[in-house]
Amino acid sequence: MSLHRHPDSPILDHCPETLPSWVYHDPAWHEKERRAIWAREWVYVGRRNDLARGSMRRIEVAGQSLVLCHDREGRLACFHNTCRHRGAELCSTAEQPLGKLITCKYHNWSYATDGRLVSTAYGTPTDDFRREDHGLFAVHVKDWNGFLFVCLAADAPDFAPDMGVRCLDNWPMAGLQTGHRMEKLLRCNWKIFWENYNECLHCPGVHPELCDMVPIYKQGIMATNEAEGWTPDAPRPQSNLKEGAVTWTATGQPCGPVFPGLSAEERTNGYNFVTIYPTMFIVAHVDHVRAVRLEPVGPEETRLVAEWFFAPETLAQPGFDAASVAAFATIVMSQDAEVAEMNQRGLHSDRYERGRLMPQEFDIHRFHQWLRTRMEAAGEVIG
Ligand code: FES
Ligand SMILES: [Fe+2]
Repeated sequence: MSLHRHPDSPILDHCPETLPSWVYHDPAWHEKERRAIWAREWVYVGRRNDLARGSMRRIEVAGQSLVLCHDREGRLACFHNTCRHRGAELCSTAEQPLGKLITCKYHNWSYATDGRLVSTAYGTPTDDFRREDHGLFAVHVKDWNGFLFVCLAADAPDFAPDMGVRCLDNWPMAGLQTGHRMEKLLRCNWKIFWENYNECLHCPGVHPELCDMVPIYKQGIMATNEAEGWTPDAPRPQSNLKEGAVTWTATGQPCGPVFPGLSAEERTNGYNFVTIYPTMFIVAHVDHVRAVRLEPVGPEETRLVAEWFFAPETLAQPGFDAASVAAFATIVMSQDAEVAEMNQRGLHSDRYERGRLMPQEFDIHRFHQWLRTRMEAAGEVIG
């Protein structure tokens, strides 16, 4: 049986090969991806609202220790966690207060919060030493809707969420506060996570609760234009969610006031996904927002951090329980975690070299192209 496909449907007209299995567990390849992708792209590191003014935090991005600084004036900066004298680590605790200076504990060189070397303390340099040549190694930082991103590359690429940089303009993002957080170590490669995220063929079998909330997922597709026989003039459903539901909570009812500035479409969508490879995705609902971030820990280990954000007035409701709002998506993520780990284990078979994608897995195909392009730019061809 072949699929009847309208040319405007995103469904593929062929079944491309998957990536070969070794890219999901080979340590040498993982190191190449670290350099070509994680050390070059924008990586999400946390919310501005969760890093108090006058503090600095030690973070790790692409295997590099960095210090993320939020000074008393509200300026952000990020540096490699190394002193320009003899290379001592500048920040040895998870988070510490930040005053006017960043001072190395070893010989007390101190730097302004913009990275300039201000003092060499007891060391008295000769004329051949120029302070301006010994500022901290800066890393690009970006605040987008209160999400902080860093980029280790000398020339940062364009910041390009798949839905465009204005896509969250109607949400009061800067004022949202983190109400719930979940961390989970997945025993799978980071690409397995994205592949699973990018298709819904697994939804009918893996996500009963989600399929109940989003009826189209029962067909294994994400949107009507993927359906057999779809044409552009086919009617669009009023809402993606089941009747009466407006958001992803157990009951489908909002957990607090609905954000006032949303367009009719943003409201009726029920969920608005924003994907920012390779680091995170955001799901904006009418009453709260969720972000899920990935951090590769090793070729076969990925840390997942999910955060739920709410308006202060939602959090202030008597008896408000953010964990119960988070429970719905947490169930879905646990189901995804289980199949992602199952996928990873199966890739170790000596007989499995690579498989084929189905036409509905067009977003996985796009992800593979995204990956190939970046690896090829770094001189690495997957084949
Ligand atoms: S290594 Fe930092 S002051 Fe000497
Ligand atoms: Fe899933």
